[in-house]
Amino acid sequence: MKTTFEKSGLDKIKADAYTFFVYEDKKLFEDQIKYIQRILRIKFSELSLEDFKGKEGQTQLVYSGKYRIILSGIGKKEKISLEKLRVASSNSISKGNSVKIKKIAFEILSDETLTEGIEEVARAEVMGCILGSYFFGKYFTKKEKKEGRSVKEVVFFAEKNILAKYSKEIEKGIKSGVIIANATNLARDLGNEPSNVLYPESYCNLISERSQSGKYTAEVLNLNDIEKLGMGGVLEVAKGSRREPRFLILKYNGGAEGEQPYVVIGKGVTFDSGGISIKPGAGMANMKMDMCGSAATVGVIEAVSQLGLKINLIGLIPTVENMPDGNAFKPGDIITAYNGMTIEIDNTDAEGRLILADALSYATQFKPKSVIDIATLTGAVLVAFGNVTSAVMSNNQPLADKLFKAGNQTYDRVWQLPLWDEYDKFIDSDFADVKNRGAGGAGTITAGMFLKRFIGDYPWAHIDIAGTAIRDSASNYLPKNSSGAGVRLVTQYLMNEASDK
Ligand code: BES
Ligand code: MN
Ligand code: ZN
Repeated sequence: MKTTFEKSGLDKIKADAYTFFVYEDKKLFEDQIKYIQRILRIKFSELSLEDFKGKEGQTQLVYSGKYRIILSGIGKKEKISLEKLRVASSNSISKGNSVKIKKIAFEILSDETLTEGIEEVARAEVMGCILGSYFFGKYFTKKEKKEGRSVKEVVFFAEKNILAKYSKEIEKGIKSGVIIANATNLARDLGNEPSNVLYPESYCNLISERSQSGKYTAEVLNLNDIEKLGMGGVLEVAKGSRREPRFLILKYNGGAEGEQPYVVIGKGVTFDSGGISIKPGAGMANMKMDMCGSAATVGVIEAVSQLGLKINLIGLIPTVENMPDGNAFKPGDIITAYNGMTIEIDNTDAEGRLILADALSYATQFKPKSVIDIATLTGAVLVAFGNVTSAVMSNNQPLADKLFKAGNQTYDRVWQLPLWDEYDKFIDSDFADVKNRGAGGAGTITAGMFLKRFIGDYPWAHIDIAGTAIRDSASNYLPKNSSGAGVRLVTQYLMNEASDK
């Protein structure tokens, strides 16, 4: 998506359609219709708005003179929010796609009741546009299907006095919005790639190539390195697959030298068959997306490095394929993790926590400011929260609160689950230090309790995105299948951290 900002005003723009946001309140609705006529220097002859009332979710095409106008409803003014703008922007893109046009102009809404300010408004609009345009057409062979959506360009404009006052802010908002939305779409692409194309080795090659941009570095630990380090979790899960495991280390240095880094860890299971504890056939294809946590980690590194945040950031991605085979690890096996702890394998389908265990203890050496792991970890989180909310669990309440705040800012939201001591015995084993599946329900929490046994002495949060990263339906600017969950959330958290310094 090409995105520009026309600072010299509306007159300079040639677009196939012009989007204006319209409130539902009667007076504001009428004022806006008058305003559109004035600013475009047109007179609606017999304006037919059919049943368009400016309600959330409503869009209406109006043709007048040489203009095609898209009215996009944003509901009642007293309830206006950035999320409504993201959704209304994405709705306008859908409308444009439905009539096969290429370029849409958008007005930057100026609403003094929005506490967030105009930079955030611009960011919200641009993100709604780019996220709402996402389409994964790479593997279609017919040109029309491959290209997908028709709208390929958006241009933003604003009223003259807004331009005079806020051009800088708008420009900043557009710039950061483009970066974060593209990083989210990158994570979506990675998630949607099939596992015959994207497997540990090819995945690491791809990200290493991307790192050639020079904004961050990529180091790949191969099978030999992983063996030497004694990362038993990664090794054992990978044993049943023809694909060797890899451990990817991404580094971005935007902070002072020697300053404590933030660490983000992502589950990178490129395909999860369940292993010997094999999954049922229905829905198994979705398990090519079991690396969405790692895709989010890549997205965060890309976004943070392009934003140039003044922090140090390390991404850790253990990546494996979980397959059944004569050589596969089995229920009852006892394995040894990177930190020396023994784990009884109760179920080979609880593999994500095994590779995360290694990464979490590996992170200790960096003396991190905080460690956040992102993972499609449990089916149980879908039962609890559906595809609306990711679960967050933490050993540090201020960190959990910061993630909750970032979730509300971006609408890549989280809700906290407890990691209380009472749950700890659920993962005790008769034979080893810990068991990889909990007994007694609370599947999402017991997975969190398992991870907690492997963390170092640092503030830590675990985000289970199994419900939000892999969607079985589209909603507003969130597509079906891989959604890029976690990228906006964690990037916002880090933006907040960087600006608090
Ligand atoms: N990758 C799955 C979790 C998952 C399920 C992600 C559905 C997305 C959609 C994970 O590895 C898994 O299989 N978890 C098991 C754990 C159980 C065996 C303790 C689960 O949730 O059933
Ligand atoms: Mn599994
Ligand atoms: Zn899995």
